[in-house]
Amino acid sequence: MSLKFWQFQNQELQSPFAPRYRYIGADAVIEDIDFGAIAQLLLDAEDQMLKELKPTHDGGTGLGLNSITSRFMSYNPLTWTHSEDIMNLREKIYTLYLEFHKTLKIDRQPMFVQCWANIVRPGQEIKLHLHDISEYSYLSGNILLQGSPSEILYHNPQNALVRPEPHRIQQEPGQITLFQSCIPHQVPEYTGEDIRVSLSFDFLIREYVLARVKPRNQRCIKPWDMMAEISLEEFDDGESLEIPWIR
Ligand SMILES: [Fe+2]
Repeated sequence: MSLKFWQFQNQELQSPFAPRYRYIGADAVIEDIDFGAIAQLLLDAEDQMLKELKPTHDGGTGLGLNSITSRFMSYNPLTWTHSEDIMNLREKIYTLYLEFHKTLKIDRQPMFVQCWANIVRPGQEIKLHLHDISEYSYLSGNILLQGSPSEILYHNPQNALVRPEPHRIQQEPGQITLFQSCIPHQVPEYTGEDIRVSLSFDFLIREYVLARVKPRNQRCIKPWDMMAEISLEEFDDGESLEIPWIR
């Protein structure tokens, strides 16, 4: 398991008004985890989640309010400690997160995680969207848990409209990508036969959490790094829900 980096970067600037850009992502394949078991946990929970959690918005994915994607502010599968597979996956994602910073020689920030699942049925797509272009924009990721091999495209943010030049990845279960949260991405119409299940996540810096996270959303954004220490007063865990798979 090691990261294969890719980037969108332009050449030396020849004009005072040309934009300077460099956007980075990295792919890896995680092995030795029962991804199908994690997908099944999510599929088993889907009905209850749709019924009991309020949707906010689908983040531009086009999956609509009748999806667990649109409830991303109300749960976090990476906190489902009753699943050994999820706990193992958590460790592996964290290892890749450390490798991402180490390879780029970038000091990592105190970090929190928000994670949600996407269930895509044959004929559906995940429309072109991005996660964060604010001053706090940091890193995101996604991993395919179940589904026929399908493509996911990451686009150069400077050129998504005029001449798309996507980084294309043929995803199989275990395929994971970490990428800057400002990079647009999409999954074209899914033509597989079985249900496609993936996890998406945002790594969030402490400043984002303090400035942007409303009390009602605190339950799904978790400190995930020993550097993320934050006082309980600043980061109350919110009301507990009577749903066993939400912590
Ligand atoms: Fe996304």
